[in-house]
This record gives sequence, structure tokens and C-alpha cells, in this order.
Amino acid sequence: MACTILMGTQWGDEGKGKVTDILAREADAVVRYQGGNNAGHTIVVGDRTFKLHLVPSGVVRENTLSVIGDGTVIDPWVLRTEIRHLNDLGISTGGIVISDRAHLIMPYHRMLDGLQEAGKKEGRKVGTTGRGIGPCYQDKAARVGIRMGDLRYPELLREKVCNGVQNAKKLAKAFGVDLEIDEEQTFRDLTEVGNTLIPHMRDAPLLLNDMIEKGKNILLEGAQGTFLDIDRGTYPFVTSSSCTAGYASAGSGIGPLDIDRIVGVVKAYTTRVGEGPFPTELKDDLGKHIQDRGHEFGTTTNRPRRCGWLDLVMVRSSVQWNSITDLALTKVDVLSGSGTLMVCTGYRIPRKEAEEHGLATVMRYFPSHLELLAKAEPVYVKVKGWGDMTDEDWRMVKGKDDLPGELLEYMGLIEREVNADVKLLSFGKGREQTISIDGDLP
Ligand code: IMP
Repeated sequence: MACTILMGTQWGDEGKGKVTDILAREADAVVRYQGGNNAGHTIVVGDRTFKLHLVPSGVVRENTLSVIGDGTVIDPWVLRTEIRHLNDLGISTGGIVISDRAHLIMPYHRMLDGLQEAGKKEGRKVGTTGRGIGPCYQDKAARVGIRMGDLRYPELLREKVCNGVQNAKKLAKAFGVDLEIDEEQTFRDLTEVGNTLIPHMRDAPLLLNDMIEKGKNILLEGAQGTFLDIDRGTYPFVTSSSCTAGYASAGSGIGPLDIDRIVGVVKAYTTRVGEGPFPTELKDDLGKHIQDRGHEFGTTTNRPRRCGWLDLVMVRSSVQWNSITDLALTKVDVLSGSGTLMVCTGYRIPRKEAEEHGLATVMRYFPSHLELLAKAEPVYVKVKGWGDMTDEDWRMVKGKDDLPGELLEYMGLIEREVNADVKLLSFGKGREQTISIDGDLP
């Protein structure tokens, strides 16, 4: 494995937690490199379900380090709760490493997240998870953020907390709200929670590069997905971090040439939580059926996820932008027995726009602007779906040869259209409901 990135090719919720858990079997460290507890990764081991928000999905594997890297944003109170919860479940948390360069989400970031959203007019709201992600990254970019490493230096920390609280109060005032936060109390609360995390704190890039030198295997676990990326995504309906493969290097401190494999996780259909455009959305009973059958409700906020047909314009762009070498296709069981399936392979745009932008009238790659996307009509190919399969039928699937022919054709269509091969197929929540295609991925 050496160094592998695993990331989402759509709008998040592709089933990355489960695939990470499978790949983590061979990993010595699993690393989160961006985002925070806006993520929600579900892992099922036997009859136990683990819902993780910050701690990397490798934590349920023994002898695997779980590194929360430089590029993440950490709500220390949430992290402490997550560590305690894992301990209560009897899972060892001694291997959790927290980068001292990661930024801290403070209670006022959460408040500002709510105020910023409430201040936007209808149609412009992002539908954030409300976890303070955006305001924390704003402070990071403005170079006034508080980093994990500051916890070691009380006087510096006090000064930064005071500044943070004062800035937050000013910002809230602009929304007509008086924030009642006591600076000294905030400092004391942070010190108290911080003391429980300090034993986990390390210079993460130093640790990871040392592991690479020793030939260890590292898995970089992306959160959210390509189309929530602040540059590549459907801006402004995106998160505030870079979710694409390029950032795995920046957010972990591992040099780009040390990364040798990039696995893109593709859900067999498309979902999106929150606001923003969604060309292949199904607003009918079928969309509802997929939502129910796929349990498409957010792990973090429990909001229903919008559902639609597989959009290969998105996946094709994602493969290109992220240099994806292998695909992991998830949740194919959800589409069983759905009859004819539609797969979007292009976007048709009006001739006038095509000429103005210097584009073909059928776009194969995702448009750069939402105004253009709004004019795009999905071009579909119809494919024959595979019949309904019982749990017992799926249990009998041990390899590619046991799959229905129509599903193999669906996979073939994806591979041809996006120019990457499906190496892993997932058809249920459990570890055993997964097969490696051609024995390539573990
Ligand atoms: P934020 O990351 O909380 O600022 O939310 C920005 C957008 O990203 C919203 O549309 C969220 O629903 C979406 N989002 C953030 N994290 C996730 C995730 O892990 N899965 C799916 N959507 C997410």
C-alpha cells in the first residue's frame, strides 16, 4: 500500500468510512487531513456500529495509528467526547495522534456559523452542518486562529482566546446579536479540555515522514467529497476546506511524490445534503425510495439526503482532478430491483453559452460556474437494472463471477466513461459485504 489516498468523488457520503476500514487492514496509520466534525463516517463491525466524526476510521483496527492531521479543524470538546465514547466501547484510543498544527473550533465559531447562515437570504443559504467549520477556517486564513500547539503555552493561549472572543463579538454585533461569552471562562474551559488532549499531541508530519522512511503503510482518509471542495466544488455551496487529493499532501505534511495510489469512492447513485445544485436529482417517489432503502440520512445532522441518478460527469471530472487510480463502488445493493436505471454521461448546454465559453454543446466535464450549470440538461443513457436480491443472495457473492450480468454492465459503463477501473465493490454495511475485483484492493 505504501501511501494511499482514499477520497469521495461526489458530494460526500459515498461510503468512505467503510472503505477506509477495509483498506485500513493493511495500514499502519490512517490520517485525516482536512475538515472536522462536519464529517460522519459509519463503520459496522459484526453487530456493532461506530459513528465517527473526527477520529479517523482506522481507530477500530488494532495497532493502527489514527492521526488527525495539520489541515483539519478540531472541536476539542467533541474530540474528547468521541475518545471517551470509544473507550467506553472498549476500543483502544492510545494510538490517536493529534497534530499540533491543527486549528481549534471554538464555541464562538459554532455561534458564528449559525449567524452567518441565518443572515443569508433564501436560495443563498449553504445548509452547513452548523459545526463552526467555516468560521474556524476563516480565522485560519486570517491568521488569527488558535492551534492545538498553543495549548502548551498558557499566556499565548489566553491572548489568542481573548482576541478570538472579541472578534467574534464584533462579528455577531454586525448581525445584531450580543454574544455573551466570558473571555477568561472560555480560556479556562479550553485549558481544561485541552489538558486531556495534550498527551495525544505530536508534530504529525515528523511522525508520518519517519513512518514512510521505515516503509510503513499510510492511508490518507478524505472527508466530504470532490464537489464540496472549496475550489473544485459547486461554490458557494461547498465546505470551507479542500477535499481533493492535492490537499492530502498539504494537510498531512506528506510530500506529493510519496503518494502512490488514489482511490476514489463512488456511490452507485448520487446524494447531496444541504443546499446547492444537483442536476440528476430525483424529486419523485423513486428518489424517496432510494433515500429509504439506502438509509440516506446524514450521520452528523440526520438531515435527509437528496437522491438522484449516478452522474458520470461528476465522477469523470473527479477522476481527472484527483488523478484517481482505482474506484471503489458502493451501495450497489440499494439499486437492486429498481428496473431501468439512468446514468448521466454528459450535460447539454445551449449553443449560445457553448460558444461564449468555448465549449462543446455536450459537456463531458463539470462546469466551473453555477450559472452555466443551471442551464445544463443531463444527457442520460438507459441501462437495464439487476433484479432484486435478498440478503441471502448477496451473502452468496464471493467474487465478480457471482454478480448479476446487468451489474457487471453497469460497472463496465462507469469504467469506460470515466477511464478508471472498479477495484472494490460494496453491497452492504458489513466488512464481509465487500469484494475485491481481480483481487487488487484488500
Ligand atoms: P460545513 O462543512 O458545515 O460548512 O457545510 C457546508 C456544506 O457541506 C453543507 O452543504 C453540508 O451539508 C456539506 N457537508 C459538510 N460535511 C459533509 C459531509 O461529511 N458529508 C456530506 N455533506 C457535508
